[in-house]
Amino acid sequence: MMMGSSSTPLKVFVLVFLFVWVAEGQTRTKVFNVVRFGAVADGKTDNSKAFGNAWREACRWEGRNKVLIPEGTYMASPVMFQGPCKGYMVFETKGVVKAPTDLSMFDDSWITFQYINGLTISGGGTFDGQGASAWPYNQCTRNPNCKSLPVSIRFNFITNGMVRHISSIDSKLFHFNIFGCKKMKLRFIKISAPEDSPNTDGIHLGSSRGIQISRSVIGTGDDCISIGPGSKNIRISKVFCGPGHGISVGSLGKYQNEEDVMGIIVRNCTFSGTSNGVRIKTWAPSPASLASNFTFKDIFMNNVYNPIFIDQQYCPSRSCNPKAASQVQISDVRYRNIWGTSGSKLAVNLLCSPGVPCRNVELKDINLVHKGYGGPATSSCSYVNGVAYGRQIPPSCL
Ligand SMILES: *[C@@H]1O[C@H](CO)[C@@H](O)[C@H](O)[C@H]1NC(C)=O
Ligand SMILES: *[C@@H]1O[C@H](CO)[C@@H](O)[C@H](O)[C@H]1NC(C)=O
Repeated sequence: MMMGSSSTPLKVFVLVFLFVWVAEGQTRTKVFNVVRFGAVADGKTDNSKAFGNAWREACRWEGRNKVLIPEGTYMASPVMFQGPCKGYMVFETKGVVKAPTDLSMFDDSWITFQYINGLTISGGGTFDGQGASAWPYNQCTRNPNCKSLPVSIRFNFITNGMVRHISSIDSKLFHFNIFGCKKMKLRFIKISAPEDSPNTDGIHLGSSRGIQISRSVIGTGDDCISIGPGSKNIRISKVFCGPGHGISVGSLGKYQNEEDVMGIIVRNCTFSGTSNGVRIKTWAPSPASLASNFTFKDIFMNNVYNPIFIDQQYCPSRSCNPKAASQVQISDVRYRNIWGTSGSKLAVNLLCSPGVPCRNVELKDINLVHKGYGGPATSSCSYVNGVAYGRQIPPSCL
């Protein structure tokens, strides 16, 4: 270099040039279009190899790297997008990605993202699980040793994730399963499956912390969102849920040594025509764990069968033994400003465990009306300690 002999303005120019060049290099996104890796948008060709190759190539680079699925319909058999990656990964799909219908091709998932720190999934595209032909093979409600159908999209051990402007339809089992993740945001997600499709939960979370779900529309045949053991610091807002089974914490207490569930906020949500609104459920009997610090507030219920529901006597496949109580301790649960219509007369049902009664449950400003047969809405409390204040329709049982 001849810097030493150059004039000052030239030095400044060179420095500015270098700075811009470096800054550009850091923000420029390298694009890995799956079509360049052999993907064909004919709705028939299996593109999972092309997708996987595009991902592996993108994952080797530092900086910001985008795997792009352009418009069109791409069939793909099960595929894993695995890290760790060198840089920040963007998975942008503008097209429709379709699952095969042949169940023999699947293990327990269709698309898996795992061990990635720094991931954005976006693009406005759709993941179509093509579940309709698989739903009749869902035996798991009857047979506990059943082979499970595949989950559409698994997020395993993702840190700093953002999923936005994505649709998922007709999963064979759950749409999204979030496991072992930290700091993830999901926004503007659309999830749909028919009301009578089995176990098509929208988003299931477990062993994850710092997860935010907002501005999304979810309608399925099971829970819109279900929050399993080990979930901590979960914030859900502006979600429209229906049809479906509502937003559930649980089922908790199915297994030994489950992690506690703590710090859940569900607010500014609408439930429409769902079987439950906000529900906490634990198996009976069940081993000891904690479920604590939940806030459900500013929630509108439109014709929801069980709007506010704690069920600590959950035992769907056998009859409950009332002496074999759940040992999951539920505490610090706040229900605030929840209004609308209840599909059943029993609008508020707090059925806690005789073994470990619920502690510190608060009902504030509840206005849930029941119209039609059976008369006005009622509430029922079993083994609950707590307080009620503000407006209480139905009259509080606390
Ligand atoms: C309760 O949970 C919220 C949301 O996760 C969290 O911000 C808050 O700190 C928690 N409070 C306590 C006392 O742990
Ligand atoms: C949440 O809902 C409440 C009650 O409807 C409303 O006052 C508040 O503005 C809403 N918050 C947001 C962030 O939309």
